[in-house]
Amino acid sequence: MKKQLFSMAVVAATLCACGSSTPQLGKNSIDEVIGAMTLEEKAHLVVGTGMKGFSGDSAVIGTTKTLVPGAAGTTYPIERLGIPAVVLADGPAGLRIDPIREGDSATYYCTHFPIGTLLASTWNQELVEQVGQAIGNEVLEYGADVLLAPALNIHRNPLCGRNFEYYSEDPVVAGKIAAAYVRGVQSNGVGTSIKHYAANNQETNRTGNDARVSPRALREIYLKGFEIAVKESSPWTVMSSYNYLNGTYTSENPELQTTLLRDEWGFKGMVMTDWFGGKDAIAQMKAGNDMLQPGTDKQYEAIIEGVNNGKLDMAVLDRNVKRILEMIVQTPRFKGYNYSNKPDLKAHAAVTRQSATEGMVLLKNDKETLPLTSTVKNVALFGCTSYDFIAGGTGSGNVNRAYTVSLLDGLKNAGYTVDENLKNTYEQYVAAENKRLQEAKREWFMPLSRPTEMKLDASEVSQLAAKADVALVTIGRTSGEFLDRQRADFNLNKEEMDLLKSVCNAFHAAGKKVVVVLNIGGVIETASWKSLPDAILCAWQAGQEGGNSVADVLSGKASPSGRLTMTFPVKFEDAASSANFPIDLKANIDITNKEQQKGNVKNVDYTNYEEGIYVGYRYFDSFNKEVSYPFGYGLSYTSFSYSNPAVKSDNGVYTVTVDVQNTGKTAGKEVVQLYVAAPDAAKCNKPEKELKAFAKTAELKPNEKATVTLKVNAADLAWFNEASSSWVVDAGTYNFLIGASSRDIKATLQAEVAASSQKVNDILKPQEAIQELKR
Ligand code: BGC
Repeated sequence: MKKQLFSMAVVAATLCACGSSTPQLGKNSIDEVIGAMTLEEKAHLVVGTGMKGFSGDSAVIGTTKTLVPGAAGTTYPIERLGIPAVVLADGPAGLRIDPIREGDSATYYCTHFPIGTLLASTWNQELVEQVGQAIGNEVLEYGADVLLAPALNIHRNPLCGRNFEYYSEDPVVAGKIAAAYVRGVQSNGVGTSIKHYAANNQETNRTGNDARVSPRALREIYLKGFEIAVKESSPWTVMSSYNYLNGTYTSENPELQTTLLRDEWGFKGMVMTDWFGGKDAIAQMKAGNDMLQPGTDKQYEAIIEGVNNGKLDMAVLDRNVKRILEMIVQTPRFKGYNYSNKPDLKAHAAVTRQSATEGMVLLKNDKETLPLTSTVKNVALFGCTSYDFIAGGTGSGNVNRAYTVSLLDGLKNAGYTVDENLKNTYEQYVAAENKRLQEAKREWFMPLSRPTEMKLDASEVSQLAAKADVALVTIGRTSGEFLDRQRADFNLNKEEMDLLKSVCNAFHAAGKKVVVVLNIGGVIETASWKSLPDAILCAWQAGQEGGNSVADVLSGKASPSGRLTMTFPVKFEDAASSANFPIDLKANIDITNKEQQKGNVKNVDYTNYEEGIYVGYRYFDSFNKEVSYPFGYGLSYTSFSYSNPAVKSDNGVYTVTVDVQNTGKTAGKEVVQLYVAAPDAAKCNKPEKELKAFAKTAELKPNEKATVTLKVNAADLAWFNEASSSWVVDAGTYNFLIGASSRDIKATLQAEVAASSQKVNDILKPQEAIQELKR
């Protein structure tokens, strides 16, 4: 209601002013409006309104009540010029606003959709676009204007605390999935903010860390996804990141925010900082970081002073103001949209339930353990997480949802019965553990640790094995903003191993099967224990319908068709970036403790990206490292054959086609991955292979066949030559590899590629050369 009044107020203000000489946004040109703005008004507009909305207050600025409680920020309203405040709200897994408002009996819950990593694991751009449509509808109907998502930083290391929000270790996957998400959200007439631009790959000291990265690694890996998303989906805004990049804050770097983003890639929208990001408001303005969020009085004063003392050119301020106004005029709030505060949460619950099943990755399925046969009725449900299912990660990527379906409830909803005694024991134990952990929590921002697994004695487990038809064991991990995961979080702990062994021993002795469900937001160690259970389903963190989605997959109602968008290494140390990642810096250093951080300059003050371009499978496959599960991997309940592979070249476009046939007994979808291997890759210090395109088939019935078409432009085959600052395509015979994972190549085709090169800006150089890994 408040919001409707506001919209009417804007319209009224606009109407009243028509006859007057004060220019009005929407009636007059943006340049005329800027011409009428005072310096103070301009400074306000580029700075935002502070943290009032964040804390849930209904902030009053001027005479306008604008905020959606719990939204992360707003722009500054200037009523005399018809400029409304517009609302910016998180985040990647759904809109994050306060669900309850003071003095209001209505609720404002949003749908918690699957985390970014799960969405990417669908490899289904159409599906991600549909999820984006549903998320964007909640943005629109709850009165927000710009969603602070998607987040597409590269999974440089398995232990980055925010990997769950991000998509992949591969920039093509990250860029294409982000573009699909943006198209979906923006189809509602609301905006997005692709974030965090750029090289924000660790949480430790995230506002002080200098990411030291070579131009080649930046161009080929860390910036590529942003480039794809900008070019393929035109996001309304970009959010700069917290970190320094090669010695300069990203938000203060004109090379990043202007030369590359706008001049080279053609971005036409607006750039905002991450919340309180960067230090020097003048430098940010000059760099082309148009808006500072959430905005502080200090920044406002610095801008006024800067213009007055000549350090900030008014023309630069006007340029930034213009970009903000161009964004504002597109918003539903400016257009006076009469939002309902009643999005169709039921319909969106169905969207999240179904989309989540497509991103779950079946890692192991011996002797067709899954789907559970119709004779399986009684389930022995182990693991604390089964009863306390994790919908997503913590921090700004969290969503205030009305409920989370646990695996227990999902199984019950699907008609299974669980052992009630075991259930009661677990529920009591989990409640007590959570209470203990809540009390022990050191910092408000830290994710709540997971309960330590309960000790069960062998005879108890044997009795359960005699009664139940199957055992399910859930392993859970959570993580979030501000904090990277630790090595201990990567490995299973003793209690988890004991549980797994004891359940496997007892159930196998009774001739029954064991299924492990991974309710995780990032990669964990699997190599040491994966031989124990009969099946492993990586369910990720699947949003609020998680338990139902998992039950749909276990029961066979849905066939899992997710594929890993990152490698599962054998050991944490195997990832090339692990040598330069803030983990176990000194024995048992507490990375939340500033005092203890001192002296741990490496990877805290700065991080050298010494692995260069060899991130994820580019490293494992080029250096022949054993992995636990490769990039692109995932099983299905059915099987597929590949035939008639062909490649055609036409005017610099390579078109690869292949027939995929369902050769199994159930319907399913296949992900077809196209890797390209350059000639003399090792000699030329290029990765063994690189993903260049991918597609997912429609659901194929048994025997059904589909032709999959994948396109690659010759320019996409370029590597970045730092010496000449150009994208270079070397001439030669390239292998086009059609694969079901980076290590399961179904067909190899060859094509001749002509030489070409394109010179680009010689920018973003490290202050000192980085000793990079080479082949
Ligand atoms: C996060 C952003 C988020 C912002 C607003 C920051 O802490 O890094 O991703 O959009 O807060 O909540």
